Amino acid sequence: MAAASSSSSSVFFIFFLFFFLFISEATVPPSATFHYVNSGELEDTNEIFTEYDPDYRFLPPFATPFDLCFYNTTPNAYILALRMGRQSDRSLKRWVWEANRGRPVGDNAALSFGSDGNLVLTDADGQIAWQTNTANKGVVGFAILPNGNIVLRDAAGRFVWQSFDYPTDTLLYGQSLRVGGPNYKLVSRASATENVDGNYSFVLEPERLALYYKKTMLYWSSTFPEVNKASRGLVNATLEITEAEYSDGNYNSLRFRLANASDQPTVLLGTNRYNSTFSYLRLGIDGNLRLYGYRRVANAVAWSLLYTWFNRDWRNSLEGIEDECQLPGRCGKFGLCEDSQCVGCPTPKGVYAWSKDCVAKSPGCQASGFRYYEVKGVDHFTVKYSSGMGPVDRKVCESKCTKDCKCLGYFYHTDQSRCWIAYELKTLTRVGNSTHIAYIKTPV
Ligand SMILES: *[C@@H]1O[C@H](CO)[C@@H](O)[C@H](O)[C@H]1NC(C)=O
Ligand SMILES: *[C@@H]1O[C@H](CO)[C@@H](O)[C@H](O)[C@H]1NC(C)=O
Ligand SMILES: *[C@@H]1O[C@H](CO)[C@@H](O)[C@H](O)[C@H]1NC(C)=O
Ligand SMILES: *[C@@H]1O[C@H](CO)[C@@H](O)[C@H](O)[C@H]1NC(C)=O
Ligand SMILES: *[C@@H]1O[C@H](CO)[C@@H](O)[C@H](O)[C@H]1NC(C)=O
Repeated sequence: MAAASSSSSSVFFIFFLFFFLFISEATVPPSATFHYVNSGELEDTNEIFTEYDPDYRFLPPFATPFDLCFYNTTPNAYILALRMGRQSDRSLKRWVWEANRGRPVGDNAALSFGSDGNLVLTDADGQIAWQTNTANKGVVGFAILPNGNIVLRDAAGRFVWQSFDYPTDTLLYGQSLRVGGPNYKLVSRASATENVDGNYSFVLEPERLALYYKKTMLYWSSTFPEVNKASRGLVNATLEITEAEYSDGNYNSLRFRLANASDQPTVLLGTNRYNSTFSYLRLGIDGNLRLYGYRRVANAVAWSLLYTWFNRDWRNSLEGIEDECQLPGRCGKFGLCEDSQCVGCPTPKGVYAWSKDCVAKSPGCQASGFRYYEVKGVDHFTVKYSSGMGPVDRKVCESKCTKDCKCLGYFYHTDQSRCWIAYELKTLTRVGNSTHIAYIKTPV
């Protein structure tokens, strides 16, 4: 009995030793390691049209149509990123994945993949700007897959790390958002020149897809019945393009395949004309979502805009889900929007012609220093997709806003006595319903 137990424990020990040796020996072979320094000639951006008109340098790893590059849109602030589009294409190349947004590196920074399996971006002074945190986790190789997924694989071919789990503002065909994962959202870019997080995010939540301005102000959420059942418990959403059932060969469906623990319903987002398996969905600088396809035109391959979420033709076409007026920044800091157009600048004296200089005057904090003026028949961009407070009396709504220094105005529906407090005004939508009224603070 004792002998048996000792032999089984030594078997176990040997097994454990093997396991341990196996793990510690699963390192990257020297031929697969690399160290690329960000130095040398910059590419001429005039010859290869690239998004945001940057300076950039190619790195050797590529998988057509994807290139890994260092690029910058402000001098000496480089981002390690994946560019999509073949050299020979005449249309704009797009940045579809970025490693170090918001933490740029300079000249002579380096991307290294060492024998320990960690992929690291270090600045010239040795500071780590970005890394995959995969040291000693059994990684044996690096690859850029044909679908644009950058992967670190173990000996069994499993992905220990993949770029598809860390999207920035772009979702490639076949890539997923996942509830609870690092990839639960896309975040917009601040501007063409500033590569830091912008104000918009597209988020997969357990019960819906949602678009936010500044993390909390909801300006769209999925109205699809497939998604909005209570306690749906969504797990992930994968961008797909499939042949539409009624297709005459030309039309395909753009959809999210959603999954909860037990089911995989799909949500049809729209229809696009081409089968472009290199499509991608982008949360734009303006907070709009657009789908781009990469398709053959005559003998060339070119990008085309297949689909725009907030669209001026949304009622009449197969495209689009919402009117452009629902975009918070459609009419700048302050403006009245109707049928996707900026049609007015509300002031205490009435609605004037809109211009991009239209702003609401800062009311200050003292209740004695401001009053409210009314704008009838309008909604704030947060009203359509959130229920607000209520039913409450308008006076209660007003006093909430008055006591809150950061409140710039409130929106009230008289028919249902509902109240929305606004911390930013941005775009107001004309609703042609006089029961929807805005009360905007103005200094006296
Ligand atoms: C985000 O919004 C604020 C206004 O509240 C603005 O000052 C800032 O420039 C915006 N950021 C971007 C990236 O647009
Ligand atoms: C998944 O969705 C189905 C409906 O399609 C629902 O019946 C089921 O309860 C959901 N499962 C979870 C875990 O939420
Ligand atoms: C789209 O094209 C790809 C590659 O040419 C092909 O594998 C796929 O089956 C096509 N899908 C549809 C829905 O036509
Ligand atoms: C999404 O979740 C389902 C259910 O848990 C799972 O079977 C599927 O592999 C997941 N897909 C992705 C791309 O993560
Ligand atoms: C105004 O909005 C209410 C709901 O908030 C709706 O019941 C009513 O029909 C609308 N009136 C007009 C003229 O659109």
